[in-house]
Amino acid sequence: MMRIPELPAFDYQPRPYAGPHAEEVLRLRREFLNPGIFLYYKKPLMLVEGKGQYVFDETGRRYLDALGGIVTVSVGHCHPDVVEAARKQNEMLQHSTTIYLHPNIAEYAEKLAAKMPADLKVCYFVNSGSEANDLALLMARAYTGNYDVIALRNSYHGGNASGMGLTAHSTWKYNVPHSFGVHHAMTPDPYRGAWGREDKNAGRNYAADVKSLIDHATSGQIAGFIAESILTSTCARLVEFELPMRCRRASVAPARIFGGSRPRVSYQTS
Ligand SMILES: Cc1ncc(COP(=O)(O)O)c(C=O)c1O
Repeated sequence: MMRIPELPAFDYQPRPYAGPHAEEVLRLRREFLNPGIFLYYKKPLMLVEGKGQYVFDETGRRYLDALGGIVTVSVGHCHPDVVEAARKQNEMLQHSTTIYLHPNIAEYAEKLAAKMPADLKVCYFVNSGSEANDLALLMARAYTGNYDVIALRNSYHGGNASGMGLTAHSTWKYNVPHSFGVHHAMTPDPYRGAWGREDKNAGRNYAADVKSLIDHATSGQIAGFIAESILTSTCARLVEFELPMRCRRASVAPARIFGGSRPRVSYQTS
């Protein structure tokens, strides 16, 4: 019989839960929240507290949080420093906008830029991965003056209009017009792809597909290339990159993308 591993001891007592029962929460959700949101389990899990790497349900049962949102709890749930910083700021000023000066956004950008490589020194703050990719698309198009974009099949880039257009997975696309100007190249997948792990020419072959797409599906002038740096297909949040390139460079660029040299990182989503 399989032994179910036990969680190690953890010195934290969750607070007693006094809110509505999970079945009541489910009923309220069904009645008052949109049908677009879905649950993962037949008996849905209700999580009411978090501490470090753990989350607790309404009965106080502890779970190891192996998902952790999408980078949103990268320092663990309810980290005391984060809680304290948020509390202090909430007491001082809860909202401002970029038309006024505020020290935090400027100082935070400086700190962030200091951690980034090479000339990645300018920050655009957004509130989601979808918004980051929407902005990336706009910037690539505005900068190059070109419209077409190459993305990869089986990719996920967000649920807003442009994110869905970039995405290439039927489970994440509604049956509405999208993807105008987006062309999806083959995914360089060493397990299920056309060319496998052992194939020395795999990189070149996948790069040739990108080139073929640029040559035959676009005017030859593209605004950019977007891909998840690790093709997780909707499961993990990672750095996404974009390579603005022109037709003249197209024969070189795809080889660069898949041939191992380092892409120019332009966005970290959310
Ligand atoms: C690779 C990737 N890009 C973009 C997104 C969209 O991010 P968000 O859900 O914050 O809009 C996700 C979300 O899962 C993602 O995994």
